Order: sequence, then C-alpha cells, then structure tokens
Amino acid sequence: MKNIIEISNLSKSFPSPNSEETIDVFSQVDLEVIKGSSVAIVGPSGSGKSTLLNIIGLLDQPTSGNIQVNQLNLAALSEQAVAEYRNQTVGFVFQSHHLLPSCTVLENVMVPALAGFGEIKGDDTMDRAANLLEEVGLGHRLTHLPSQISGGEKQRVAVARALINNPSVLLADEPTGALDSKNSDHLIDLLKQLNEVKEVTLLMVTHSLEDANQMKKAFRFNEGSLSQDR
Ligand SMILES: Nc1ncnc2c1ncn2[C@@H]1O[C@H](COP(=O)(O)OP(=O)(O)OP(=O)(O)O)[C@@H](O)[C@H]1O
Ligand SMILES: [Mg+2]
Repeated sequence: MKNIIEISNLSKSFPSPNSEETIDVFSQVDLEVIKGSSVAIVGPSGSGKSTLLNIIGLLDQPTSGNIQVNQLNLAALSEQAVAEYRNQTVGFVFQSHHLLPSCTVLENVMVPALAGFGEIKGDDTMDRAANLLEEVGLGHRLTHLPSQISGGEKQRVAVARALINNPSVLLADEPTGALDSKNSDHLIDLLKQLNEVKEVTLLMVTHSLEDANQMKKAFRFNEGSLSQDR
C-alpha cells in the first residue's frame, strides 16, 4: 500500500525566547501514513503535537529530517509550490476555527478557493461551498455570520472550508477541543465519514482517547519521541 506521508528522522527545536538554550521539542521522529488512512496523534500538553501538524502543513519548518507528502519533498519546494501545497494538498482544521467574522458561513468556505490555484472557478466555487455545507449539515445556515452559529457549527464550517479544494490530507488539531460531547461525537462521525467515503487521509491531534480510538491507527508523543500506540 502507498504511503502518502513519509517522515524520517524529523527533529524540531525552537530558540528559547530568553536564553541561549534551545527548546528541543522532539527528535528522530519517524511516521508513515498510508493513503486513505486515519491516524490519531496523542500526548501530553507541550509534547509537540501541534508542532508536528504545523510542519506537515508547511506552517513551520523542521530543524532537521525528511518529510515527503504526496511524493513531494517538502524541503525542496519553491515559494510558489509551498503556497500551492498549503492551498491544495492539505486542508487544516485549527483548534479555534479562525473563521472570518464579517464573512458569511458560505463566504468563509469559499475563501481558500479564491487563491486561484485550483480548478474550481466562479459560480462553481459557490455551488461547491454550498454542497459541502449541506454535507456537514449546515445547508440552512449559509448566510449566517460566524457570531450567529454555535461552536459545533463553527467547527463544521471549518471542516467544509478545509475541504473546498479537495485536499489529499486533512490535518485537524484538536478539532473537538472546544465542543461538548454530543457535538464532539458529531464532528468525529463527520471526519470518519469524509475519510471513509472521500478517502481523504486524516491526521487528527486529540486529547480524547475516545476520539483517538475512532482512528485506524494511533501514535503517542512522549518525552520527545513518537511511538505507535496501536
Ligand atoms: N514558536 C515557538 N517558540 C518557542 N517554543 C515554542 C514555539 N512553539 C511551540 N513551542 C514549544 O514547543 C513545545 C511543543 O508545543 P506544541 O504546541 O507542539 O505542543 P502540543 O503537544 O500541541 O500541546 P497542547 O496539547 O497543549 O496543544 C512546547 O513546549 C512549546 O512551549
Ligand atoms: Mg497543540
């Protein structure tokens, strides 16, 4: 079976804001993710989960090591290719949804398609955004502003937005972190369905073991190392 993500020997350190020392977050991380799979990443607060997701999403760079996604070597991309990768290859669902407050639900979902990298153009963008919102159960909320919908609904808008450009990989950083158990179950069901029906590869950071158990595989960060739980 084909790996969509191949990470080897990955290390990340940050410069410390107030001393010469570095903060070594993790080192020698290896991770292989099969195309179409779903993977949970768990571990204590501060162990490097978001840092790893940010590196895979090209929002940050590793200190050393190799990372390939969709057979692209992420360290060797041109500026244009980085922008295209961020827009087209990966979809990101952040812990706090980051919706634009003055745009409607529909407009928020359309935003990533307006960058001009993809194939969807004009009216097709609006149709696709409306269809995705229908799929996540928000067809009746298209013209609401983010302030006029619930927390669970905002997170579902964020999922629709992450999918607008048909990404191969969906990166979700504690997508249920701010939700009650009913909304949380709803969102996990939605992500699982997207993974199973649309074959989007899903990488989800979570603090919830229950949510982690819904993924096909689980990995754990502990003291700077990543190991497979199951
Ligand atoms: N820009 C930065 N500069 C310096 N240190 C940083 C920076 N970003 C993260 N860190 C440190 O790196 C470590 C890992 O952070 P990260 O956000 O990946 O943790 P996490 O596992 O996602 O935690 P949580 O579960 O609380 O979200 C933390 O100790 C954090 O303080
Ligand atoms: Mg985090």
